Amino acid sequence: MPGAGKWRVAVVGATGAVGRVLLELLAQRAFPVRRVTALASARSAGRCLPWGAGEVTVQHLEDFDFREADLALFSAGAAVSREYAPRAAACDCVVIDNTSCFRGDPDVPLVVPEVNPETLAAYARRGIIANPNCSTIQMVVVLKPLHDAAGLERINVCTYQAVSGAGTRALGELEAQSRAVLEGKPVQAEVLPARIAFNALPHIDRFEDNGYTREEMKMVHETRRLLALEELRINPTAVRVPIFHGHSEAVHIETCRKLSASEARELLARAPGIRLLDEPRAGGYPTAAGEAQGSDAVYVGRIREDISHPRGLDFWVVSDNLRKGAALNSIQIAELLISKYLKPKT
Ligand code: A2P
Repeated sequence: MPGAGKWRVAVVGATGAVGRVLLELLAQRAFPVRRVTALASARSAGRCLPWGAGEVTVQHLEDFDFREADLALFSAGAAVSREYAPRAAACDCVVIDNTSCFRGDPDVPLVVPEVNPETLAAYARRGIIANPNCSTIQMVVVLKPLHDAAGLERINVCTYQAVSGAGTRALGELEAQSRAVLEGKPVQAEVLPARIAFNALPHIDRFEDNGYTREEMKMVHETRRLLALEELRINPTAVRVPIFHGHSEAVHIETCRKLSASEARELLARAPGIRLLDEPRAGGYPTAAGEAQGSDAVYVGRIREDISHPRGLDFWVVSDNLRKGAALNSIQIAELLISKYLKPKT
């Protein structure tokens, strides 16, 4: 219950798409909060946001003294994290960062609690923990038990990513463009790189020199790090689709030992954080707007043996990108941190 616990928690980017879910989940999961501070830019200072049964007033990040917090959950973009996360850590306020800023830093653990909880112990090196990219999180939760059982050799993945992953302004753009198309009016793209309404964009984040996008390369680097498989071969294509919430992924893996579809189903049925919905009938598979949106689980369906490869397995993974892909994973890290490692400052 908000107010009954020991921990002073700051949410940086509280007015944003992920920030709002962070506040919602802190209250919903009864995180033992003594005080929550909602931080954002000067634009939002003074606004009220829902917090538990009441409200919290947004403060300007620049004015906040991080000595007043034990934990800070950052989700205000990499530039804000680059500047403020080290400042917070220097005030003995442990940062869980939901941006890409520190994910490649070997002194910052990159953590998915179902996958590599032991790496959290290294948080003390910089006082910062990195939350992986949304598409990576939901994929590795499923890959981990399969890798433990059969060894991963290669991954091919295509994503179908919701617009909420690009933030609140992008959600507004999808809505406005959809209305414009239906009303036969001209469509403008200002936030996303091209028209998203009734379309699919194979372009998330900037292009890299190798022809992949940065979003795709995040999946490569972060999956390798989370599974401690530096040489793992991963071939992603990341696509933005006109869905408000919930990322879907078509994943094709090749394993060292052949894994049958029924063995994979058994492994996944007992793995943490996963829900199986895998029946060959209409509705017998998970979808973003159906099962994933608003749910904590990573859903898996369409599990089948790849007819083109003797050790290939295909499946479909769906999860709420703002929850397990972002806010929920951050809060699970915070829960692990306070249960195993951290003491409140006062
Ligand atoms: P604000 O609402 O004041 O702009 P989203 O991912 O939905 O676009 O949200 C981004 C979040 O990051 C918002 O809470 C936004 O606050 C916050 N933010 C963006 N830039 C800054 C900044 N320079 N300082 C503090 N918060 C920022």
